[in-house]
Amino acid sequence: MAGEKPSVELCKGINGLDKVVLREARGSSAEVYLFGGHVTSWKNEHGEELLFVSSKAMFKPPKAIRGGIPICFPQFSSHGNLEQHGFARNKFWSIDTNPPQLPSNSLIKTFVDLILKPTDDDFKIWPHSYEFRLRVALTPGGDLMLTSRIRNTNSDGKPFSFTFAYHTYFLVSDISEVRVEGLETLDYLDNLKERERFTEQGDAITFESEVDKIYLSTPTKIAIIDHEKKRTFVLRKDGLPDAVVWNPWDRKAKAMPDFGDDDYKHMLSVEAAAIEKPIILKPGEEWKGRIELSAVPSSYCSGQLDPQKVLQG
Ligand code: BG6
Repeated sequence: MAGEKPSVELCKGINGLDKVVLREARGSSAEVYLFGGHVTSWKNEHGEELLFVSSKAMFKPPKAIRGGIPICFPQFSSHGNLEQHGFARNKFWSIDTNPPQLPSNSLIKTFVDLILKPTDDDFKIWPHSYEFRLRVALTPGGDLMLTSRIRNTNSDGKPFSFTFAYHTYFLVSDISEVRVEGLETLDYLDNLKERERFTEQGDAITFESEVDKIYLSTPTKIAIIDHEKKRTFVLRKDGLPDAVVWNPWDRKAKAMPDFGDDDYKHMLSVEAAAIEKPIILKPGEEWKGRIELSAVPSSYCSGQLDPQKVLQG
């Protein structure tokens, strides 16, 4: 509730799964399930939901939750020996009570630190020792920040490599009224064409059919403009050069058991990622990848976004 003190509360979510609820004084909030280290809700100060979670999402481990922000680690998609999108989204994470310090932003008081480490059984799937620390934070203004720190703790001297994505499902009013800015003219790998490389043409990215593209060497800011809702999401990222844009559209939507037939109209995944060049860590090395999401009212005149406010602001 607006006017209350910021708070961080551990409680039970759907199907009795543990979740942490972050609340900021002005009324914004976020929810994180320990299953998957998975953000499932991000609300602005008016209590409006900003992330898409399917009404058919199952919340039944080990199946990952459909929507919110699944963490894809140590493998993005099906390119590799592991299960699709890796295992981090299917594991139970713990609350990290004593994380190594992050260069702190003293304004941020509302956050939770989670940690994932491999069990003996996990070694059979991916024979590496690691510590994955995830901080989920809410700023006083209601921005959502996720910081991942992944450390190689192998004692056998071996490096490991991984790919990664914050698979963010943005909630949109109508996919046909949405455009993405910041990715025009970039090269991308088309997942629908065996990852063939193309260059994006035209000055706007809009949606009228299935899309599954990995944009390469993307800028640190990407905007998702919801024309109907007059809302712009700004995604700022650090350490994550690639950006996946995905919408399954009608045919694939129907084939997914945990996704409603019409859900594709109300979501767009824009995923800050490191895919083209896998991250390689030697023992003792740590990698950091961060996203910051904000939702701002957008003024939209003649199809033009105010670039000052969004991409440079
Ligand atoms: C996207 C991929 O990131 O995730 C798509 O680019 C994939 O190819 C989609 O279909 C959903 O994956 P999943 O495993 O959550 O169904």
